[in-house]
Amino acid sequence: MKIGILGAGNIGATAARLFIAAGHEVAVSNSRGPDSLRELVQELGPRAHAMTIDGAAVFGEVVLLAVPWRSPEALPRPELLRGKIVIDAMNPYHPDGGFYDLGGSTSSEEVLKRMPGVRLVKAFNTIYYVHLASRGHKELPHDDRHTIYVAGDDAAAKAVVSQLIEDIGFAAMDTGSLREGGRLQEPESPIYNQTYNAREARKFLAALQRQPQ
Ligand SMILES: NC(=O)c1ccc[n+]([C@@H]2O[C@H](COP(=O)([O-])OP(=O)(O)OC[C@H]3O[C@@H](n4cnc5c(N)ncnc54)[C@H](OP(=O)(O)O)[C@@H]3O)[C@@H](O)[C@H]2O)c1
Repeated sequence: MKIGILGAGNIGATAARLFIAAGHEVAVSNSRGPDSLRELVQELGPRAHAMTIDGAAVFGEVVLLAVPWRSPEALPRPELLRGKIVIDAMNPYHPDGGFYDLGGSTSSEEVLKRMPGVRLVKAFNTIYYVHLASRGHKELPHDDRHTIYVAGDDAAAKAVVSQLIEDIGFAAMDTGSLREGGRLQEPESPIYNQTYNAREARKFLAALQRQPQ
């Protein structure tokens, strides 16, 4: 697939390496422009391209948001993304290190308001980038793989994102809707930054569902 990656830091560059290794084509982008990404695309090889944020948005059949959530100016013009599968990996960190109080809302619901009409899937939020870089193992049986959670309201989009997660050696696990599954993937939730494999994650999610609300 052609994957546009917005943000080429810890998460963006790590995801780019993994998607390239899995046979996909990527466009990476950042705040400083394509020239600053020359070294990274050289490392990644001919299926990697350095682009502007808007360029990477247009390039991707799937677009990964890996910029700070607090910086809406880092996102492309929403019309460039309309109808596309967009993966929201962003977490609502405050510059001082805490989290924004979103009232009853969740960070991905707020992202969807910034880009109406995209097929939004929340994923890659709960995994530390060092684990993303090192814990994907395609050779492992599915149940033994490190889990990456997906949430969203578009089942077909979730299936595409889940396949990408499987392609890079992780187990994709559906937590539900953008609102309720998404809430479960927010910082400070019990699955945030945990290293459950698929077998453990399934049990843990089932136990959570049995708890009285
Ligand atoms: N770090 C983790 O383990 C982790 C795990 C899960 C989710 N996340 C989430 O993933 C997102 C990225 O985190 P990260 O750790 O990868 O951050 P990071 O290493 O600081 O990288 C951020 C990237 O966003 C770009 N960026 C920042 N402001 C921008 C702007 N105004 N316009 C265009 N691009 C801009 C930066 O470009 P420049 O390099 O040019 O400044 C950089 O490429 C965050 O929302 C974070 O909450 C992080």
